[in-house]
Amino acid sequence: MKPVNVGMLGLGTVGSGVVNILERNADVINRRAGREIRVTHASARHPERPRSCRLEGIRLTTDPFEVVDDPEVEIIAELIGGYEPARELVLRALDNGKHVITANKALIASHGNEIFARARQNGVTVAFEAAVAGGIPIIKAVREALTGNRVEWLAGIINGTSNYILTEMFYEGRDFGDVLAEAQRLGYAEADPSFDVDGTDAAHKLTILASIAFGIPLQFDKVYVEGIDHITREDVAFAEELGFRIKHLGLAFHEENGYALRVHPTLLPRRHMLANVDGVMNAVMVKGDAVGPTLYYGAGAGAEPTASAVVADMIDVVREVNLEPENRVPYLAFHTEALSQEPVLPMRDVETAYYLRLSARDEPGVLADVTRVLGDFGISIEAIIQKQPQAGADHVPIILLTHRIHERHMDAAIERLEHLEQVDGRVVRIRVESLE
Ligand code: HSE
Repeated sequence: MKPVNVGMLGLGTVGSGVVNILERNADVINRRAGREIRVTHASARHPERPRSCRLEGIRLTTDPFEVVDDPEVEIIAELIGGYEPARELVLRALDNGKHVITANKALIASHGNEIFARARQNGVTVAFEAAVAGGIPIIKAVREALTGNRVEWLAGIINGTSNYILTEMFYEGRDFGDVLAEAQRLGYAEADPSFDVDGTDAAHKLTILASIAFGIPLQFDKVYVEGIDHITREDVAFAEELGFRIKHLGLAFHEENGYALRVHPTLLPRRHMLANVDGVMNAVMVKGDAVGPTLYYGAGAGAEPTASAVVADMIDVVREVNLEPENRVPYLAFHTEALSQEPVLPMRDVETAYYLRLSARDEPGVLADVTRVLGDFGISIEAIIQKQPQAGADHVPIILLTHRIHERHMDAAIERLEHLEQVDGRVVRIRVESLE
């Protein structure tokens, strides 16, 4: 059969990985796809740069629009990332009747609804397995393998850079800034690492996962986002003392009145499987009503793990190329007209437990004042630790674990605590989940 020609936008780490896998595993890939898949055209910002892949048979250009306009190309792999010009290129490729594969989580989370509609208009398809958790086939699992279930919740470590930083802070007692610089050197972090540490990258991925799990439109702007930039070594150590590890999680729950979509540092019981996912690894736990909890673990970034997902998408596209669009697996697992309009809940309506740390004057009655404020807002305390003051200090750290309460009550209680004369500075709040 005639080979399928692929045009690549971007020939960096992941792009080179794709070229290498297509070459090295050509026999098994062709036997699975039923046709040879070959890269014929690629754009790169600096085509003269040495690459970690062979370029024979690939026409190189600096202009990505040349690739999306190439009439010989059937599939475009968009691996340049970011919003623009990626969005424009993808839309043009779809208008040109080409199928698109992308690893671009920002693009799908923010513009996916528009892109899917354009693909449908043009009778072509968009695949994006590599956009979430790199090499872990989590989209395939949720979209195709768990479709008999109602998904109750999912929770994931979906930013490897944050997980690496928290792991190093925990095991080596290192400081945040040091470890981030190392993560950048090792190439885990995004070009702009603020997306890793402020939670945006994880929120992009959570948006996509939640839409597929619950059948809701992509709503990146409704996700509550908090990064790990305020987590200190002290909090990591106090959490451990209380029997918890701090992990940066993407969490999606189907609640009674809607969906809770949130990304934030979370205290997890130390024995929980997700609490033991270390370094740059990713893991996603999905709880279905029929299957129970399921766990997916693997490399969330890197050349070949991400390229593994891109190539799998290529094979899927080739296998389905002759299907009528309405017979293809729906992008968000549910048919477009059947997407749920149930709301994403504002954070103030979300219920969770809390770790609080505050610095209070070391004098009689302070603990009573603190617990009275919490009691006034109906917040029940599960554990409390008061540490010794450091030599010469007149303030002591007080650490509290609370039972579950609506965030709006905690907001009000924290505001009151911060106004207490005996309390110095801000109250640190980290949410606690048991994920049982
Ligand atoms: N910067 C991302 C991470 C890469 O650290 O997980 C994969 O999306």
